Amino acid sequence: MIPVMRPWLGEEEAEAAAGAVASGWIAQGPRVEEFEEAFAAAVGTPHAVAVSSCTTALHLALIAAGIGPGDEVVVPSLSFIATANSVRYVGAQPVFADVDLTTQNLTPETVQPRMTSRTRAVILVDQAGMPADMDAMRALCGPLQVTVIEDAACAAGSSYRSRPVGAGAELAAFSFHPRKLLTTGEGGMLTAADGSIAARMRRLREHGMDVSAADRHLSQQPVIERYTEVGFNFRMTDIQAAIGLIQLRKLPDMVARRRVLARRYQELLSDIPEVLTAADPPYGETNYQSFWMLLPPDSPIGRDDLLRLLAEAGISARRGIMAAHLEPAYAGATQPLPVTERLTRHSLILPLFHEMTEAQQEHVASVVTSALTHSRQGLSVS
Ligand SMILES: Cc1ncc(COP(=O)(O)O)c(C=O)c1O
Repeated sequence: MIPVMRPWLGEEEAEAAAGAVASGWIAQGPRVEEFEEAFAAAVGTPHAVAVSSCTTALHLALIAAGIGPGDEVVVPSLSFIATANSVRYVGAQPVFADVDLTTQNLTPETVQPRMTSRTRAVILVDQAGMPADMDAMRALCGPLQVTVIEDAACAAGSSYRSRPVGAGAELAAFSFHPRKLLTTGEGGMLTAADGSIAARMRRLREHGMDVSAADRHLSQQPVIERYTEVGFNFRMTDIQAAIGLIQLRKLPDMVARRRVLARRYQELLSDIPEVLTAADPPYGETNYQSFWMLLPPDSPIGRDDLLRLLAEAGISARRGIMAAHLEPAYAGATQPLPVTERLTRHSLILPLFHEMTEAQQEHVASVVTSALTHSRQGLSVS
């Protein structure tokens, strides 16, 4: 079976993880600190706080922005459900806005109609690695004192206006889940422009302690910690960070390879021009974390039938990005979102991974192309 994604992991990661184990310190410690510094430098942001997932990074970002009960946060419904859930964790109300068809991201035009006097933040998702237009969103939100939090879960290695995604964000959250390019198994990173916010987030990820467990362990003297506010256990382990340091070094190669493979998909699928595929926006470059394709409204084959055909041909594809407002957890929570509904019902994600071969890619493209052309000619495709 051709997998939809396979992380690019090797001996180096295995040795780095073994090194952490052999060191005797496997919880959050020196390797986490080293990973934070390296990640902040790679993104070009002053501070990075390693956490257990992007979900916990988003949770902390909302706390950092002072969001709580009675507040509204505008989010795309078209996102992994963690984006909306994080708003609920702080007792605030997620308000769903529609997205642009070609980037699958929020825009000022989709967000502005959903803003009220209670709107305190917008979570701007770089969907599937596609950079969102942060400057345009800031131009809308800044004058209204609405914080823009970047959900860059999928976007490590993407760029926005010639800088890494996240570089210009007040607060940005990244994921290191294995569906992403850079993986630590599970894991996440919160980046922050403000040092005092980053320091508070470091305390909050560790139960609100004013001295970390690692620092107490290293001290020659007994250190009695204090708990300054109610915090969480959102820590990353040193084993994960050791893997992350290697993966971060490999990230530019991963992005370059994915961009070559994505261009190839675009060429291979160009025989069916009515199909829209992921492509760079004018202001940036995507890392192609997911290579999605959108079937046209008059598609001769339905998305789910195409997924079934691909599975029968040994290809593991996925439906496109989910829409939270169509899930029972958020039922009845929004006004119509036509672009979101079209994208979630008629798009799919094709396999794309570092070690994918040309033959595998041709196989995927030929199954898709023949399904669409044969169906159009009225032939049976099942
Ligand atoms: C846009 C978005 N936000 C948040 C998350 C949650 O990331 P994690 O699994 O690291 O918590 C994901 C995961 O896929 C995502 O795609």
